[in-house]
Amino acid sequence: MPHDVTSLKLAPQGKKRIEWAAQDMPVLEEIKDRFTKSKPLKGLKVSCCLHVTAETANLVRVLKAGGANVLLCASNPLSTQDDVAAALVKSYGIKVYARTGEDRTTYYKHLEAALKHKPEVTMDDGADLLSLLHSNKYQKQALQVKGSMEETTTGVIRLQAMEKAEKLMVPIIAVNDAKTKNMFDNRYGTGQSTLDGIIRATDLLLAGKTVVVVGYGWCGRGFAMRARGMGANVIVTEVDQIKGLEAVMDGFRVMPMSRAASVGDLFCTLTGDIHVLRKEHFKKMKDGATICNSGHFDVEIDIPALKKLSRKFRKNVRDFVDEYTLPGNRRIYLLGQGRLINLAAAEGHPASVMDMSFSTQVLATEYVLKNHKKLLNKVYYVPEKIENWIAKAKLKSFGISIDKLTKEQEKYLASWDIGT
Ligand code: NAI
Repeated sequence: MPHDVTSLKLAPQGKKRIEWAAQDMPVLEEIKDRFTKSKPLKGLKVSCCLHVTAETANLVRVLKAGGANVLLCASNPLSTQDDVAAALVKSYGIKVYARTGEDRTTYYKHLEAALKHKPEVTMDDGADLLSLLHSNKYQKQALQVKGSMEETTTGVIRLQAMEKAEKLMVPIIAVNDAKTKNMFDNRYGTGQSTLDGIIRATDLLLAGKTVVVVGYGWCGRGFAMRARGMGANVIVTEVDQIKGLEAVMDGFRVMPMSRAASVGDLFCTLTGDIHVLRKEHFKKMKDGATICNSGHFDVEIDIPALKKLSRKFRKNVRDFVDEYTLPGNRRIYLLGQGRLINLAAAEGHPASVMDMSFSTQVLATEYVLKNHKKLLNKVYYVPEKIENWIAKAKLKSFGISIDKLTKEQEKYLASWDIGT
């Protein structure tokens, strides 16, 4: 089995984690049962560039159960769970290229391995694999790709920009933008796991702390809600007037970062934007201010500027915590080197929420396979039928059913169509 993982000896522990996560992924299991019987992905070559976690392991197991020939590589150098990677190779026969802490060269070597697999379908989390596919070296191969799924907001934004510039060579399904994904995964998954990462890294007591949430999108909303629930005094910063207003009406303090910088104890960036925390903000921060990021790329905090400002640096004063001492003996603590803190210091999203995101991935893959001849090189939304099926199956797994419109109600609501 071709692979590049840290150590196959870690496989038994990884298998336990994968099985534990599977128990909380009932929708994916339901799809797996159907796939095992009907093999809708028979012979399909799939390359996935995703965070290598126990939940992702269950996704690739379902693809394999459907008959696909799957390769998995990391979408982030710090998020790989080495034991899970080992178990996927040893216990489940999946080709895996991922090592925690891999350097840039290895990261790109692993992406290349994913393309050398000659995929007909790809899955990305941040669009790194798709970017490489569009490079001169691999462009010809792009013609063989029937479609590609994108898991995160930043990836969708990158791919929409490529579509606009007429450079996109593959149809894309924006899995991130499905309601069954971002309303739940980004909000509740990132909300909870980001707090989990911060707490594991620092052991900080949130009650009474001033927490500054940078960006009030799906992820920011979830994180702000959870931080408030733990007793933090939450401030939101935004650049979008509507989102700023929403945060105010949700009961948060809203102000520009130029003011929040001097009052926050903990700052978390969740924007998908660059340098939202930068030199002018570091200069105002209190002694002991802790900063971290849960947005996709490690560019939200201007780390080079922090390094330049600091007089003294201590690496790993605690696992995942680096200390920068600024003029005036003010210490700033940077968590997880500015990378996604929920994946760097914790285990990423809980399985129950990834159940929905990855069911969306799998059903979107099946959709691409059935419909690729009709698809253009554009970014598409996930069909509503898929979203509704997943929501219903998830509710059923909680033992909950909901009402149905009566014939009379259907008729009444339809009568309000425009033009009637
Ligand atoms: P979103 O588009 O719903 O929200 C981003 C928000 O940030 C927007 O409201 C925008 O106005 C705001 N923003 C942009 N620039 C800003 C600035 N300079 N200052 C303050 N606010 C600013 O996006 P979503 O879904 O919340 O995702 C945010 C980031 O998190 C993306 O990079 C996404 O890929 C990533 N993500 C991370 C996950 C994780 O596991 N940590 C999971 C899902 C998404």
